[in-house]
Parts: sequence; C-alpha cells; structure tokens
Amino acid sequence: MPEGSLQGKVAVVTGAASGIGLATSRRLSAMGAQVVAVDVDGEAAKQVAGELGGRSVEADVSRSELWPSVADAAQELGGADIAVLNAGVTTGVEDITALSDDQYRRIMGVNVDGVVFGTRALVPQMLAKGAGSVVATSSLAGLIAFPGDPVYTLTKHAVVGFVRAMAPRLAEQGVTINAVCPSLVDTPLIDGEIRDTLAGAGFPLIAPEAVADAMVYCVTEGHSGEAVFVQLGWPPTAYRFGHPPGPRLPEAQGKVPPGWLAEQPS
Ligand SMILES: NC(=O)c1ccc[n+]([C@@H]2O[C@H](COP(=O)([O-])OP(=O)(O)OC[C@H]3O[C@@H](n4cnc5c(N)ncnc54)[C@H](O)[C@@H]3O)[C@@H](O)[C@H]2O)c1
Repeated sequence: MPEGSLQGKVAVVTGAASGIGLATSRRLSAMGAQVVAVDVDGEAAKQVAGELGGRSVEADVSRSELWPSVADAAQELGGADIAVLNAGVTTGVEDITALSDDQYRRIMGVNVDGVVFGTRALVPQMLAKGAGSVVATSSLAGLIAFPGDPVYTLTKHAVVGFVRAMAPRLAEQGVTINAVCPSLVDTPLIDGEIRDTLAGAGFPLIAPEAVADAMVYCVTEGHSGEAVFVQLGWPPTAYRFGHPPGPRLPEAQGKVPPGWLAEQPS
C-alpha cells in the first residue's frame, strides 16, 4: 500500500498510546491520514498526537458520555473516515470464582461497550460521507477458546459477532466493518508471567506492525463482516467460518428465519 493513499482521511484510533494502537496510528499517519489518538492515558495520547501531528482525546472508551468529545474531535477535522476500535484489556483471571464484579465490569466496558459506543458515535459521520471503515480489534481468542481468560474470550467473541451482524446493513450504506484477530503480539498487554512462559517455551510474538498491516488491509480492501486473523507467517487473511446446521424437518428444509443472513445453512 503506497504512502499517501489515505491522504485527507480522518482516522480515530482507540488505545492509541501503546502497542497495536500506537503501531496502527503511526501506519495510518504515514499513509496520509489525520489521526485522532484516543486513550484513557491522556498524556501518552497527547504525545502520540504530537509525534503524528494529529489530535488527542483523553477518554475511557467504556463511558458512553465521553464519546461525543471523540466524535467532535473527528468532526472538527471533517468527520471520521476510519475508526479503529482497539482499546482492550484482559482480566488475567482463569478461575471464574475469583473474578470480582469490578474486573468483570471493566473488561466488558472496555472490550465490548467501547466497540459498540465507538461504532454508534462514529458511523453517522461515515454515513454522512457515504463511505467509511470500522475495524475492531478482536483476538484469536475471538475465534478459539482461551481457557486462561474465559471472560476475555467472551468479549472477543462478542466483537466478532457484532461486526458480522453489523456488516450487511452498513454495506448498503457504503461503510465496511471488520474485526482483526491477532494471535500473541509483542505489546505491554503480554507482561510478567505470560511473557516469561512464552519466552521459556520459545514461542515467538507477532510485531504490532504486522497487526497494523491487517488494519490497513481491512480499511483498504473493501470487504466487510470479516474476521481477519493475524498469525506468524501469514498475510492478513479472512477466517472461514463453519456452517452450523439448519433445520432438517421436511417442512422447514433450507429455510432461513426472516432477516437472518442468506448465507445461513440450508
Ligand atoms: N497483545 C496481544 O497479544 C493481543 C492479541 C490479540 C488481541 N489484542 C488486542 O489488541 C488490543 C490492543 O492491545 P495491545 O496489545 O496493544 O495492548 P496495550 O496494553 O499495549 O495497549 C492498550 C491501550 O489501550 C488503552 N486503554 C486501556 N483501557 C482503555 C479505556 N478504557 N479507554 C481508552 N483506552 C484504554 C491503554 O491505555 C493502552 O494505551 C486490545 O483490544 C487487545 O485485547 C492484543
């Protein structure tokens, strides 16, 4: 993808201060986009905006009342063309009986509410332009089970389901929405014991820049409703979902409930 091909575009990136969000912000900026760097760490977001000549907004993506300030920052630049809804956390809790209410609410708020509120706040700007692209960061844990953090797995599956269900309606209006599903990436999210265990097992981590490649792929390729996985040695690739069984009673053979996707199984 040549530099400059996102010239004039406005890209909102959440979790922009670190890891995947930072690498993505840098990539989109290098391609010509104006970046609105959103992070709960306002100082770090400001630094990113300073480096990229963009804007920053200090906001906790789980708080719906803060999204208008993000939307306003994008609107001042002409309106969002790209939304990378990437901020995310883990619980680090494997034993569900040890999960506190606060830990549960926090991860649901950041990983799920942050994606839903971000889509709700920024899609209207894209619809007004008749084009746009939403990319939400899920995880390989959105496609497979990660027993080490079942609630993280829950949130990342939720993101995949959300983008797949949103895609058809948005596509009619010129807006794409996809999920990026990376395996383990070398960011501060992978810290302490996990990092040591992985290093001990000789398991290589993916560079955040490779995830930025997948973000750009989603923004530029025009497809929608896909879960694009990022895995060592692979280019960004849309995951192929299996088909759950449809009805097999003679009177219901091949029927799809009204309003469901036609690609549902027969
Ligand atoms: N690192 C991995 O192995 C990996 C793998 C798959 C998916 N992911 C996903 O990638 C995304 C980015 O993770 P990362 O690895 O770059 O982590 P990171 O910790 O390096 O960066 C996350 C950023 O999000 C910000 N953030 C956290 N809570 C926030 C909130 N409530 N509001 C706004 N900003 C908030 C943090 O301040 C930080 O800057 C997450 O959604 C994560 O689940 C990461």
